[in-house]
Amino acid sequence: MNRKSDQPDYFKSLPADELHRRISNSKKALGRRLLILGHHYMTDDVIAHTDERGDSFGLAKIAAGTDAEYIVFCGVHFMAETADIITKSEQKVFIPDPHAGCFLADCARIQDVEKAWKDIRKITSDNIIPITYVNSGAEMKAFCGEHGGLVCTSSNSAAALKWAFERGDKVFFFPDQHLGRNTAYGMGIPLDEIILWNADETLGGNGPEAVRDARVILWDGFCDVHQEFNAAYIEKLRRKNPDMKIIVHPECDFDVARVADYMGSTAYIIERIARAPAGTHWAVATERNLVNRLKQKFPDKRIEILQTFEPYCKSMAQITLARLAFQLDQLEKGRLINRVIVSEKFAEGARIAINRMLELS
Ligand code: 13P
Ligand code: SF4
Repeated sequence: MNRKSDQPDYFKSLPADELHRRISNSKKALGRRLLILGHHYMTDDVIAHTDERGDSFGLAKIAAGTDAEYIVFCGVHFMAETADIITKSEQKVFIPDPHAGCFLADCARIQDVEKAWKDIRKITSDNIIPITYVNSGAEMKAFCGEHGGLVCTSSNSAAALKWAFERGDKVFFFPDQHLGRNTAYGMGIPLDEIILWNADETLGGNGPEAVRDARVILWDGFCDVHQEFNAAYIEKLRRKNPDMKIIVHPECDFDVARVADYMGSTAYIIERIARAPAGTHWAVATERNLVNRLKQKFPDKRIEILQTFEPYCKSMAQITLARLAFQLDQLEKGRLINRVIVSEKFAEGARIAINRMLELS
């Protein structure tokens, strides 16, 4: 591993056409042993080499169903962790940059979630079901598995909440307050039955009555990328373009979700725009790589991002062509770098919570 050509920096210095050539060669050499998965926020050059693309739920289902020995996950760390949890022990999951985290997932720490759980249970005897958004660490998923709860993604959050309310009186939802609020409100739960839990304050900043009365308790996490979209700008844009359709990801805040025409996961956004007639005008609130790819893919439709600038996910951007090329080069040489392994301490409980989600649909 000491030669210059065996270092990630050497790959960074290579021109794009050479990286593409190396990736194609490594893929050929590894053949059916390798499966490359890519989230929709990857850049075009990385997406070009993925075998399957999807939203978090779609990719988790593909990971659960593949027999490939090596799964290279072009996405963020929690996605690769989820894949490791649901694949067989002989399969190995890799992420080309293990530091590609997720701002939202980092909003909740397990010790804070456990403390909140204890505090809530001290003042109410209601049956509480915990739900974690898949954008969270494995220990959060294990917590849900061990406490009668489940995982959800942006494409099945309503089904997860329904599942929870069939079994309990209250839902404790973390870490994304916006997905939780948008979903609960969309199912008819009024805002005064939804409270926010701030881990830095006593009882999350709520009075005991509010906690006792609440049907949904939301962690106060958010995604810094989707936080960039705002309702005031959307309304201004809509006044100028009354025929424009607004489509947003449910990680956007409540005011944005309320003025949108459509809301759903990245896969839903792609599908909804793909099905729309030529000549329609779409403004999209989600990460720029996906929106720009939609523009290229559907030149017969007018598609724009719902902001004056292009919000992008720094974490997803860490998965570059050079890193993918280096990852595959090392795998081809039998060097299992950047492997993602979830400790058995969390994997068992997390698997229960993920499987409950996979059984929803
Ligand atoms: P999707 O599951 O909708 O692709 O969302 C994942 C994500 O991280 C969005 O920010
Ligand atoms: Fe996490 Fe937001 Fe990036 Fe999605 S866009 S991976 S939620 S930081």
